[in-house]
Order: sequence, then structure tokens, then C-alpha cells
Amino acid sequence: MDASPVRIRFTLNGEPKSAEFSAETTALKLIRDGLKLKGTKEGCGIGECGACTLIVDGKAANSCLMLAAQLDGRTVQTIEGLGAPEALHPIQDAFVRKHGVQCGFCTPGLLMSTKALLDQNSTPTRAEISKAIAGNLCRCTGYHHIFASIEDAAQTNKERT
Ligand code: FES
Ligand code: FES
Repeated sequence: MDASPVRIRFTLNGEPKSAEFSAETTALKLIRDGLKLKGTKEGCGIGECGACTLIVDGKAANSCLMLAAQLDGRTVQTIEGLGAPEALHPIQDAFVRKHGVQCGFCTPGLLMSTKALLDQNSTPTRAEISKAIAGNLCRCTGYHHIFASIEDAAQTNKERT
């Protein structure tokens, strides 16, 4: 069996990056364990919960279902590339103000799905929001505050443009 490592180059949070890993490594494992970006969460590991969502070439993707090799040449954003504690991204700020965060485990994935949505559609309807976050499970909030957070972020976006 060929055990030679896979090498890739990609753009991660705006910076060029190279990585080397074994062939069966998932994108989630590379991000969390290889690159130590622990903001991306591992929940189910089988594409059901959305905790592991990244933005890959502008689209939300479940990183537990991708091989790390699939990131070769792609542009990837993780939660670490969104904002910082001292300078929250407007989407993060909206989730804080509108109580879209409770335990927080689903939050990085939801923020990535929201960012991908608002980058494509700055004024989404409730139905469009629902579709965009359909893969992100939250067991705490009942979703009401999440919808309110996303609508607030969209409104803030609109006022800034
Ligand atoms: S950990 Fe990837 S979808 Fe649940
Ligand atoms: S805030 Fe706890 S799972 Fe969503």
C-alpha cells in the first residue's frame, strides 16, 4: 500500500498555506488537528450536524465529509478568519446582540453558513435563511434567536452598503 503523504497548497483565511498529511485525512482533521484551528467543531462526523462547516470557494461545506486533499488549490475560510474577540465581525456581533448563542457548540458552523449566505444574498427571506442553515443543527436555541440574528446581520450589512 502506498503510504506516501499528500501535499497541498491552498488559501486559508486569506493566507497561502501548504500542508502535508496522510491520504485518508479529512478536511476537518487537517483544520483542527493538523493546523490547530479548533474553532471548527466536530459533532457527528457523518454530515448531519453542520458543526464542522467551513466556507470553501464561497460555499458552506461539511468538512467532516471532505478529504483534506480536496482543499488543494481552494480558498478556505474558518471561523478564525471571520473576526476576533476584540473586533467581532458584524455577523458575530448580531449573534451576540440577538442571543443566537447559547452553549455555542453549533455557533461556528452557523456563522460560516450565514457568511456564505449573506455573501451571495444580502437580503435573504426567512425561507432562504432556513434553506441556508438547514444543515446546521442547534439543540439549544429553538432557532428563533438564530433567525433574528441572521436577519439583524443582513440589516446591518444593508445599512453599511
Ligand atoms: S461533524 Fe460534520 S456534519 Fe457533523
Ligand atoms: S447554541 Fe447550543 S447547540 Fe446551538
